[in-house]
Amino acid sequence: MKTPIVSFLKSYQEKSPVRMHMPGHKGAGILGFEGMDLTEISGADELFAAEGIIKESEQNASNLFGCPTYYSTQGSTLCIQTMCTILCQDAKSKGKKPKILAGRNAHRSFIHAAALLDFDIEWLYGDSDYLSCKISPETLENEIVENHPTAVYLTNPDYLGNLLDMSALAFVCKKHNVLLAIDNAHGAYLRFLEDSLHPIDLGADLCCDSAHKTLPVLTGGAYLHLSDSLNQVWKNDVKHFMEFFSSTSPSYLIMASLDAANDVLDHTFRNSLSECIKSVDLLKNTLVQHGYTILSGEPMKITIATKEFGYTGNEIADFLMNCDIYPEFYDTDYIVLMPSPYNTKDDFERLEKCLCGIERKSILVNKPPKLEQSKKAMNIRQALFAPSMKVDVSKSLGQVCSSVTVSCPPAILPVIPGEVISESSIEVMKYYGIETVRVVKE
Ligand SMILES: Cc1ncc(COP(=O)(O)O)c(C=O)c1O
Repeated sequence: MKTPIVSFLKSYQEKSPVRMHMPGHKGAGILGFEGMDLTEISGADELFAAEGIIKESEQNASNLFGCPTYYSTQGSTLCIQTMCTILCQDAKSKGKKPKILAGRNAHRSFIHAAALLDFDIEWLYGDSDYLSCKISPETLENEIVENHPTAVYLTNPDYLGNLLDMSALAFVCKKHNVLLAIDNAHGAYLRFLEDSLHPIDLGADLCCDSAHKTLPVLTGGAYLHLSDSLNQVWKNDVKHFMEFFSSTSPSYLIMASLDAANDVLDHTFRNSLSECIKSVDLLKNTLVQHGYTILSGEPMKITIATKEFGYTGNEIADFLMNCDIYPEFYDTDYIVLMPSPYNTKDDFERLEKCLCGIERKSILVNKPPKLEQSKKAMNIRQALFAPSMKVDVSKSLGQVCSSVTVSCPPAILPVIPGEVISESSIEVMKYYGIETVRVVKE
């Protein structure tokens, strides 16, 4: 497959050009790769008005994903902002006020998009704990009938690797003529499984993938995908919407990495992925034999419910980090490992040796508190932009949440801005070690 962005950057570098343009390092910086870092000069195309090499590269990505695909150099965050804009504009074009029915485990980028675009959200709790929101098609259908949303927004896979019954959920949305948007930040690779589990292939109308999370792409590289039918309606506006939230200086290093990844995805990735899944399965079996409880879900995540093994996730993470193995995420209940085809055999051996070197202890029984629905005092935009102050969580009862600083990962808010902080939300925040919360000043 041709990689037009990479080719352009390489040939530009080879010319030893006089760079009378940005960036300031002039291609000769201290890191060594600055030569490939460019700006939108003549011939280099423009991300938000693509007519040349970027258009060609995005077309290659569209062919690989089997649906219209747009690049982001600002992660899934930018794609989520754009998806929400499309959902709002689509509702307005049908004479409706946007109202999004969203899984309660939404990433904070969705909350920020709601504040910027000022749309209404009805939260779907499903069978929810803090990190997951297991929504069945029946629950979704009941909620759609009760709330009359203009769109549904779900996170799939979630942070623990759970997968929803996407085809059935998409069927319900289609039946009720409601758009289905998916935060697939963790699932770009799902398209390249033997049988694709990518949301667009399973019936979603639009989704974002953080290419950088599971594909060989630099941090910040992401895709926005639309179904063919939705793209027919919005293709002339997608980039225009993306621009609202974007830097006018998209990173060519990131675009070149998305471009180069197309060639890998076209040639070697499927094979490497299926080999890697075999290694992950073998490791999971060994860990289960050693006594670990592994959550089922997407094939490339190893999520251990560590308390069943007698430790908190933080304790197991300490064991790993003492062996210079760094997990994606851990909290008191879980540890999440995210391998990829670019981990070596030696990486898997070291991981197995370390985890199997830990002795099983008796089960820890304390469980996370259930995330309960809180009373809404104002909408997200009002709360986030209101004058606010930080208070100790223990002194926040009855106040209106303005924002919660949560670590990234998982970047899921235990209390939504605008909600009244209840005993139960305080319990959840304390359980996860959150000590302060921003509240709206009276
Ligand atoms: C579920 C989920 N959605 C969205 C995002 C935002 O993705 P990005 O960092 O690519 O902007 C993340 C990031 O961790 C995430 O975990």
